[in-house]
Amino acid sequence: MALERPQFLTTKEHRRFTEFADACRHDRYIGLCYGQPGVGKTLSARQYARWDELEPMLSRWRSSYAQARDRDDLHTLLYTPTLSVTPGVLSKDLVALGQYLSVIRTAGPSDPRACGAAHGSPPYTELLIVDEADRLKTPGLEQLRDHYDRSQMGVILIGMPGIEKRLARYPQLYSRIGFVHEYRPLSAGELAFVLQRHWATVGLTLSADDFTDTEAIAAVHRITSGNFRLVQRLFAQITRVLEINGLTVISREVVETARESLVIGTL
Ligand SMILES: Nc1ncnc2c1ncn2[C@@H]1O[C@H](COP(=O)(O)OP(=O)(O)OP(=O)(O)O)[C@@H](O)[C@H]1O
Ligand SMILES: [Mg+2]
Repeated sequence: MALERPQFLTTKEHRRFTEFADACRHDRYIGLCYGQPGVGKTLSARQYARWDELEPMLSRWRSSYAQARDRDDLHTLLYTPTLSVTPGVLSKDLVALGQYLSVIRTAGPSDPRACGAAHGSPPYTELLIVDEADRLKTPGLEQLRDHYDRSQMGVILIGMPGIEKRLARYPQLYSRIGFVHEYRPLSAGELAFVLQRHWATVGLTLSADDFTDTEAIAAVHRITSGNFRLVQRLFAQITRVLEINGLTVISREVVETARESLVIGTL
């Protein structure tokens, strides 16, 4: 069964990420973003890059040039290296992505502005976000630094906590890092906002004045520590518990029963 992507919620953390990405893009710095698994780093990056829209356009670059000619908001590329990426493949992929973006933003490969990309300076790429940057070993990081030095774009590396310490071992790359940003889990207040949306999807309203609701929110916070992925998974179980038992109220007991059927790794 195909999983439907949940609606993207503009959280405070996403706003902070946007400010951070804007700063890296405008100042053409390398920025480092780290955070626990499941807090929402990838989704924020996809949203910033408008990747759901841009990625299919990039793959159609041959068939329709200039499809994004007036789209000044398509300036960011997202790249996720494979586990076994070599510096050669990394370089080829990044140059190609930059070229495709130039082609869809101009009249095609023969447009002189698009050709600039062939010389290593994709004029339309203002920011490159590299997700899962923990996968890059020394040669890959060196290659990325070289790509950055040859271009006029900002770069963001997204990784797990600890990546900032690991990268400190590469002085050349590290000295180019302008911003370090921690992507945090949801605060208790924001969790309530997110849960309101979840409650609504099953036709219920959540009220901070209602004791049962407050208790249920507290239980979700205790179980998930505000981790978006866990909230999502816990809620799927909550829906199941409601259905099986024919319940119409999400109480602390419902949340705790849902939690029992969930495998929660140590985060
Ligand atoms: N802003 C958001 N709105 C709605 N759902 C979100 C949002 N952010 C995250 N989620 C939910 O949390 C899940 C995990 O998010 P995401 O994959 O972005 O985390 P991550 O920080 O990249 O994790 P990892 O380090 O494991 O790659 C998403 O699949 C989605 O269900
Ligand atoms: Mg991710």
